[in-house]
Amino acid sequence: MKTVTVHASNTYDVVIGGGVSALLPARLKTLYPGGRVCFVSEDRVAPLHLSALETAAKTAGIDTAHYIFPHGERSKNPAVLLSLLEFLAQEHFTRKDVLVALGGGVTGDLTGLASALFMRGMGLVQMPTTLLSMVDSSVGGKTAVNLDGGKNLCGVFRQPALVLCDLGYLKTLAPEDFADGMAEVVKYGVIADAALFDRVKDGVAPDDLEDVVTRCVEIKRDVVAADEFDTGKRALLNFGHTLAHAIETKSNYQISHGRAVAMGMVRIARIAEAFGYANEPCAGRIAAALEANALPTACPYENKALFPLTTGDKKCAGNSIALVLPSKIGDCLIERMPISRWKELLSA
Ligand SMILES: NC(=O)c1ccc[n+]([C@@H]2O[C@H](COP(=O)([O-])OP(=O)(O)OC[C@H]3O[C@@H](n4cnc5c(N)ncnc54)[C@H](O)[C@@H]3O)[C@@H](O)[C@H]2O)c1
Repeated sequence: MKTVTVHASNTYDVVIGGGVSALLPARLKTLYPGGRVCFVSEDRVAPLHLSALETAAKTAGIDTAHYIFPHGERSKNPAVLLSLLEFLAQEHFTRKDVLVALGGGVTGDLTGLASALFMRGMGLVQMPTTLLSMVDSSVGGKTAVNLDGGKNLCGVFRQPALVLCDLGYLKTLAPEDFADGMAEVVKYGVIADAALFDRVKDGVAPDDLEDVVTRCVEIKRDVVAADEFDTGKRALLNFGHTLAHAIETKSNYQISHGRAVAMGMVRIARIAEAFGYANEPCAGRIAAALEANALPTACPYENKALFPLTTGDKKCAGNSIALVLPSKIGDCLIERMPISRWKELLSA
C-alpha cells in the first residue's frame, strides 16, 4: 500500500493498493464524524462493488443511501446531475454529509460537481474503479458534466477529502477499459518521466501496477500543487486532449476518452515533429507504446473536421489556443499560438 499526499486548497491522501477500500469506514468516521454517506455509482459498477462497501459502512454505524445512474459518458450531463441533486434533497442530506463516488471518471466527475453544488458544498470521497480514474480523474479536483456544446464545459474545481484507489477493482474491468487508462499512463511518461514511459511502453505487469499508479499520481500531485486552477503548468496534463475532446464529441461519445487521448497524442506529436517543435522524433515511439498497450492510434476523422470542435475547448482564450507539444519523451512545452496558426498546423 502506498500513500501520496496532495497539497491543494485542501490537503488529502491518495491511498493506492489492493484492498484499500476496507479503509473507508474508519476514514469516513474521522473525516466526517456523524455524517451520512450517499454512495454515487452506475449500473455496471454498483452490482459488482457497492454492496460490500455499503455493508461495511453500515456495520461501522454509518447511515448510508445510494444513487445509481446508467453507465457511460452520455450520463455525464446536466440532467443526471440535477437528478442526483434532487435525490439528495429528497433524502434530506446536508452539508455535513458526504458523497462517495464509486466508479470511473464519469462517476467521479459528476459526483465531484454535485458535491460542490449541493447546499454550496458537502463532503467528497473518490473511490475510482478504472485505471484511468485512479491515475488521473480522481486526483486534482477537476469536476464537470458535458454540455451539448462540448466536453466538460460545466464544472468547478473541487478537491476530494480522500481518494482510495483499490487495485482489486481493476480485476473486473474489461481489457478495453483497462487499455483506456494506459493512454493516460503513457501520457504521464511523455509529459514528465521518460523512465516511466520506458517502463510501460510494452505493457504493465500486474505486480508493477501499484508502483506505476503511484508514480502517475505523484506526477499529477506535483502538477496540481504547482497550478491547481489551471492557469499555467497544469495544461501539460492536457497533452493530446485538445484533439481528444474534439474526437469524443465528433463521435457522439462512441469513442472513449482513453482511445481519443491515444489518437490525439499521436496526431499532435506528429504536428510537433513536422513543424520543428520536437527536439527529437517521438511520435513513432508514442504510437508504438500505445499500440503495445492495445490502443488505437489512427483517428477516423480528418483534421479539418476536428478543427471547429477544438476552438470551443477550454484551452482557447480570445483568439489564441494553448497547445502541449512534445519536445522529447519526458518533456513537453506549452505553446500559446493564434487560432489562425493552429488552423494552419492542422491543415498542413
Ligand atoms: N477530472 C479529471 O481531471 C479527468 C481526467 C481525465 C478524464 N476525465 C474524465 O473521465 C471520464 C473517463 O473515465 P473512465 O475511462 O473511467 O470512464 P467510465 O467512468 O465511463 O468507465 C469506463 C467503463 O468501465 C466500467 N467500469 C468502471 N469500473 C469498473 C470496474 N471496476 N469493473 C467493471 N467495469 C467497470 C464503466 O461502467 C464504464 O463502462 C471522461 O468523462 C473524462 O472526461 C476526467
